[in-house]
Amino acid sequence: MSVATGRHILDVRGVTKEYPLKNGAVVALQDINLQVDQGQVVSVLGPSGCGKTTLLEVIAGLRPVTRGQVLLQGTAMTGPSTKVGIVFQQDSTLPWRSVLSNIAFGMEMTGVSRSESARRAKEMLDLVGLTEFADAHPHQLSGGMRQRVAVARVLAMEPELIVMDEPFGALDEQTRLRLGLELLDLVTRVGTTILLVTHSIQESALLSDRVVVLSARPGAIRESFDVPIAKPRTLGTLASTEYARFTHTLWSCLMEMEGVESSNVVSVRA
Ligand SMILES: Nc1ncnc2c1ncn2[C@@H]1O[C@H](COP(=O)(O)OP(=O)(O)O)[C@@H](O)[C@H]1O
Ligand SMILES: [Mg+2]
Repeated sequence: MSVATGRHILDVRGVTKEYPLKNGAVVALQDINLQVDQGQVVSVLGPSGCGKTTLLEVIAGLRPVTRGQVLLQGTAMTGPSTKVGIVFQQDSTLPWRSVLSNIAFGMEMTGVSRSESARRAKEMLDLVGLTEFADAHPHQLSGGMRQRVAVARVLAMEPELIVMDEPFGALDEQTRLRLGLELLDLVTRVGTTILLVTHSIQESALLSDRVVVLSARPGAIRESFDVPIAKPRTLGTLASTEYARFTHTLWSCLMEMEGVESSNVVSVRA
């Protein structure tokens, strides 16, 4: 049950989201209750089409809910807010702007002064390790570097909560996990709260404090796990027994939803 307390930065209460169709509706989210505390990294894990992007858009105030409400620091969201930063699934850099001015873009849009946005953009550029690419343009960067620019742009706006929609989904597995760890290191230093939606068991286990598993349509919360993996997380974590055990738990949870024995699945995927 969701009980609001002062420490929840995000409190999703009984949220249902339906998309109208010609005759009827698609229920994308059903009665979602989810609380995130200050400084936590929480992943929402689920198969394609289960409603992850919808949940993220609802939390960011980009889509109205059908029922329920989303509270941010105890206040109901009624539309987009500068308190919520969004890192989209697709590359969202602006090709005609330099890296530095891509990072400054979000601040410019929300009325931060020119000098202040230049100062913060430079700081974030250094923080994400792209100092020498300040004047480069996005086409001169790798996909991973472009996503770092997108993350820097959001961090520079100093939101209370950052929501990310499969931010490294288009990258190869190794780069994805490495960038994820870099991101984790960054947010730990900045102290931001993160809600990460992903279909990747590996990513959710490696990066989160808590993993919330969504069932396939209609998206409902199936289980919520506190991640029993020691910190700091590193690439070495991937070889640990606790990581192997926990990813197996997540596998089993996802597979049970499909009515498949986890032991079958492991052998099918091997
Ligand atoms: N704008 C929309 N109009 C109608 N149906 C939608 C819309 N966006 C998503 N859906 C449907 O809602 C469900 C959840 O979609 P989505 O949130 O994109 O899932 P995910 O991000 O987990 O893949 C899907 O069945 C999808 O077809
Ligand atoms: Mg999606």
